Amino acid sequence: MFSVGAYLQIAALLAVTFVSFFIWTYLTSPSPNLVSLSDPKLLRTLYNTRGDYLKSKFYDVNSAKVGHEIIYNVFSTRSNKEHAHAIRPVRKLFTLSSLLKTEPLIDATIQTLLSELDSNFVLGENAGKTCKMDNWLPFFAWDVIGSLTFGAPMGYLDKGCDFDGSQRSGVETFFYFACVGQIPELDYFLAKNPVMRIGPPAFNGPAILCAQRVAERQKEFEIKGKTAHKDMLEDFMRINREDPSIMDENAVIGALIVNVLAGGDTTGILLCAIIYYVLKDQSVYRKLMEELDAANLPCPVSYASAEKLPYFDAVVKEAARMHPGVGLILERVVPAGGLTLADGRVLSPGTIVGMNAWVIHQNKEIFGDDAASFNPERWLRGKAETDEGYQVRLSIMKNHDLTFGAGKRVFESCGSKPRMAHPVLLVYEADWDRCKASEKEQDRGLTSIRG
Ligand code: HEM
Repeated sequence: MFSVGAYLQIAALLAVTFVSFFIWTYLTSPSPNLVSLSDPKLLRTLYNTRGDYLKSKFYDVNSAKVGHEIIYNVFSTRSNKEHAHAIRPVRKLFTLSSLLKTEPLIDATIQTLLSELDSNFVLGENAGKTCKMDNWLPFFAWDVIGSLTFGAPMGYLDKGCDFDGSQRSGVETFFYFACVGQIPELDYFLAKNPVMRIGPPAFNGPAILCAQRVAERQKEFEIKGKTAHKDMLEDFMRINREDPSIMDENAVIGALIVNVLAGGDTTGILLCAIIYYVLKDQSVYRKLMEELDAANLPCPVSYASAEKLPYFDAVVKEAARMHPGVGLILERVVPAGGLTLADGRVLSPGTIVGMNAWVIHQNKEIFGDDAASFNPERWLRGKAETDEGYQVRLSIMKNHDLTFGAGKRVFESCGSKPRMAHPVLLVYEADWDRCKASEKEQDRGLTSIRG
């Protein structure tokens, strides 16, 4: 075994080698090898269903290191072959019919959210207290993900705080991904350093959480000889037990990490955006209330009835357009043959290109002259519009909606948003006409509400 001193020497040597490599690479490059594109005509070229524009090394950073192993997941893998292998066993678990079976779990979490908001901010001596919805909606989203993934809510709604630090760890993870992803090679020097992990928190927090849950469930299986949970952990482990070549233990952990990280934050962000925009615009708020009044819905509202609410659907789509949960360039690599831009310039194979939803969603040619404003009506048929004209306009907007990505690497099930967007119907339940936030309060956090 090496002494601590020897390890430190190796680490110092590696550090010097890496730093020299980066200084050399970046000083000798004419420019960083990334071109951010905003021409909507190129969207279906970069994000096509053939998948010839592979994901860039930026996504490598999203893999977690557990022990000495780097665990790639369905989101982070760049290879089409590995992606097909990783997505095959999980795809059916994310179909609408599978997800609808989880409705009772989501309903129970909606009930918990409503009763926590009532008791903490609306009833008795708590009436009138300010509620930071940008805390409570992520608590809800993470609890739903916990129920679907591990069979029980994470407990954030019950405790009213990030009691185990997982949410903070998720935020730090994304911060690491966003920054280090710009120079992905740095990741092998920091979080994936072969000698010793250095640098800020990365994917290790969520990875440890998921590995622990797998170990606990495995132990239960060994003691009882069987387990009968109705959650994704059980589904993933069953696939692993039946045929590890389809999903090995690392793939199980990788799939869980994706659920925890990709689902909680993004959904929390969308929910906050919906509440923010609805409360900011009185005419939108009133219209939504009218639709909900007329529908006379039970609480919680089922997916089937929410689907029949066109204005609600338009509000959700518009909030996602204005405030897409992923604010980074979705990087891809130009394949052999290069990419010709509208002005005739050709980007050579290997160039990294990408688009950002925050840019594309503001394009006036696609979304109209008022693209900068929150206007759910754009998703509905205008009074003077023919049905044919509306369908054409709608399909152009849908084809340029990057909220959930596009092309081969879009994850269809991210679109289970209508169900996850349900607590927004608490706008209705809580009669927020009485308790809407002041402009100042809304702008301080994304949303704060006074009960
Ligand atoms: C409002 C909520 C969500 C938003 C805005 C969102 C956004 C996105 C985006 C933009 C991508 C494409 C990334 C790229 O091409 O680089 C993506 C991919 C992905 N998302 Fe989501 N997502 C949401 C919810 C979820 C949920 C709930 C899950 C799972 C529990 C999930 C799992 C995934 C996976 C696995 C991929 C990778 C798909 C692939 O490469 O085949 N997402 N998401």
